[in-house]
This record gives sequence, C-alpha cells and structure tokens, in this order.
Amino acid sequence: MLYNVDEKGYYGQFGGAYIPEMLYPNVEELRQQYLKIMAEPDFKAEFDQLLKDYVGRPSPLYFAKRLSEKYNTKIYLKREDLNHTGAHKINNTIGQILVAKKLGKKRIIAETGAGQHGVATATVCALMGLECIVYMGEIDIARQAPNVARMKMLGATVRPALSGSRTLKDATNEAIRDWINNPVDTHYIIGSAIGPHPYPDMVTRFQSVISEEIKWQLKEKEGRENPDYVVACIGGGSNAAGTFYHFLHEPEVGIIAVEAAGKGIHSGHSAATSKLGKVGIIHGCKTLLMQTPDGQITEPYSISAGLDYPGVGPMHAHLAETGRAEFFSVTDDDAMQAGLELCKLEGIIPAIESSHALAVLNDKKFKPEDVVVICLSGRGDKDLNNYIEYFKI
Ligand SMILES: Cc1ncc(COP(=O)(O)O)c(C=O)c1O
Repeated sequence: MLYNVDEKGYYGQFGGAYIPEMLYPNVEELRQQYLKIMAEPDFKAEFDQLLKDYVGRPSPLYFAKRLSEKYNTKIYLKREDLNHTGAHKINNTIGQILVAKKLGKKRIIAETGAGQHGVATATVCALMGLECIVYMGEIDIARQAPNVARMKMLGATVRPALSGSRTLKDATNEAIRDWINNPVDTHYIIGSAIGPHPYPDMVTRFQSVISEEIKWQLKEKEGRENPDYVVACIGGGSNAAGTFYHFLHEPEVGIIAVEAAGKGIHSGHSAATSKLGKVGIIHGCKTLLMQTPDGQITEPYSISAGLDYPGVGPMHAHLAETGRAEFFSVTDDDAMQAGLELCKLEGIIPAIESSHALAVLNDKKFKPEDVVVICLSGRGDKDLNNYIEYFKI
C-alpha cells in the first residue's frame, strides 16, 4: 500500500485538484515546478540554513520523565513549540516563501485559524520584503487576539472573514476568492496539508523535517530510529503529516491521529471528521468532510481554533480509510485537562491544539516498554486567555 501522493495527486481515492478555471494556471504552474524547485541545490541550501539559523532547528526531542512515570510508558515530546513564532507552521512558510520567490511572485496571501500560520506567513514576508494579506475568521480574531497583534506588528494586513461560522473554513474561502481575483502576481501560502494538489504534498514535504529529525534523535537516545507510536493532532493535518511522513511505510510504527470532538462527537458541536465525515470536495481537494445528507458543509466546532475545521487533508483521509492510522477524537474538556497536566508535570504550557494530542494518553493504554513520540505542535502563549477563562485562573 502506498501512503504518499501518486503522480496524479491522489492518496487512494482522495486528493486531486478541484479548482475553478481561473485558478488553473496558478495551480498548474505550481504543480509543474514544485518538485524541480525543491530539488535545486541553492533552494535546499537556503531552506536548510533558514530552518537552522532563523527557526532554530533541529527542535529538541525531549524525554518527558514525569509524564512518562504517570502513564507508565516512555514519552518523548517533539518540541515544535520551541520554533521561532511558536509552532510547526514556520517550517512550511519558509519553504513556500522561497518557492514564491522562485516563481517571481510579489504578493502573498494566507488563511489562518489559530493565527499561528498567519504569524508564520507574516514573519517570512517581513523577512523577504513581500506584501502579506492574511484572512482570518471574525471569531478567531477575537479568541486569538495576541496573534492578530503579532501579524500587524510584522506588517501584515489582517482581513476578517464574516461569513458562515466565521472560522478557518470561511477564512480559506476568502483567501481562495482573493487568489481568483489576483491570479498573476500572488502566491497563496496554504497553511495545512489541504487544498488542491500539489499543496498537500508540498506542505507535507516541508513539514517532513519533523520526522526526519525524530529518526536520528531517537537513534541517539534509544538506539533505534523507529518509535512504537507517533502521535499528532489534526486540524487540516500539517504537523501530523510531517510527524508521520518518514514512518508511513514502517509497519512497526503505530500512527495515531487526534482530532477535536469539541463538546462531544455527536453533540452537533465537533470537528471529528474521521467519525462524522463523508467523501466530498472542500477547498480544492476530495477528502473526508462533515456535511449534511444533501452535501452542505456542516459548521465545525472546537475550543481550539487550529482544529476547528470540517475536513482533514487527503493523506489523512486515506490513512483513516485504510486503517494505517488510528484516529481518536478528544473533547474540549479532556484537551484542556491534558494541557494543564503538562504545565504541572513538565513545566511546558502547550497550545490547545497540541493538548488534544496529549489527551490520548488517557484514551489509549501504552505498554511500559513502548516509546511514544508526541508532536508538541505549538506553545500556549496565544491561548493564555482561553486557559484563564476555562480554569478561572
Ligand atoms: C499549534 C498548532 N497545532 C496544530 C494546528 C493544526 O494545524 P495542522 O493540522 O495543519 O497541523 C495549528 C493550526 O493553527 C496550530 O497552531
């Protein structure tokens, strides 16, 4: 079984490029160029150098001793929270801004949910001196205020998305509309492993540095490259895609994906796509998405802005359908408790998205000798107000 994209842009039945005519030249240019550009020695050199000196990679693989004692298994945290700008999102934006430069683009647009991708995009635009416009749902602008301020300080324009649930899906719709209206000079930096081919594959390749590092770091610490399990949360699926990438075809590595169950899978307020999703088309790709019987997209809900999305990327839809990955759905309450537990046991305040991945420790029993690597996708600074409100701190 092949879990990577095929030459037509599909993962099994999922993926492809379902786009309006106006976007065809842009997406086709990207499809023809991205692998060539990524293989160029000067591109690779600049990408690697920026990841090292600007982002601060490699991110540590940290053995979480007290957490391991509590759950009676060996837990390592992949510390993407320590990256510049506070999450894994910067790995992808560094890669895509270099691709945009190679393609001669002058204007950058992006969508953002938690604001981490927006901040990471505003950051690389400042770094390269390019104009930056970030679309963000009105609800997310309110719940992720510190990141909105950061984007503005970095010189970006933040445009609110006022339709639908006023969250990530609606911000993505606005960004696609902008791209249709500005097809020539604009590059759309998609922030997750979603969108029309080649985006899911391109984003996954940029994020795959996460599992590339886990392999050699684990070899140093445990004497073997492969853990027993890798665990990551899933919004659209970019930190998960990067964490899983080099383990997809290693059958001894269990792959665990964690999505948001919001107020409960069947509460009508969730983003549990693997449980509730049906095959459909969203934002340019065929994937699993939450929809009504007549095909209208269901408004998603999660306390975590980054997981509040009605679909998953096509790679993850394929991993779910084939059973290669085990999917868990974690409620707001369980995620918040897991986040607080990490604060108390390890002195690390995680992003609420990452807290969902941590909550799996309560849902799945690991063996004492298991090595479990959890991707800590981001830090919790942006979520402080949510934590304060939730715990009445
Ligand atoms: C810290 C963090 N983790 C996870 C996610 C979810 O995105 P993805 O599934 O693309 O990794 C986000 C999205 O904003 C995020 O900010």
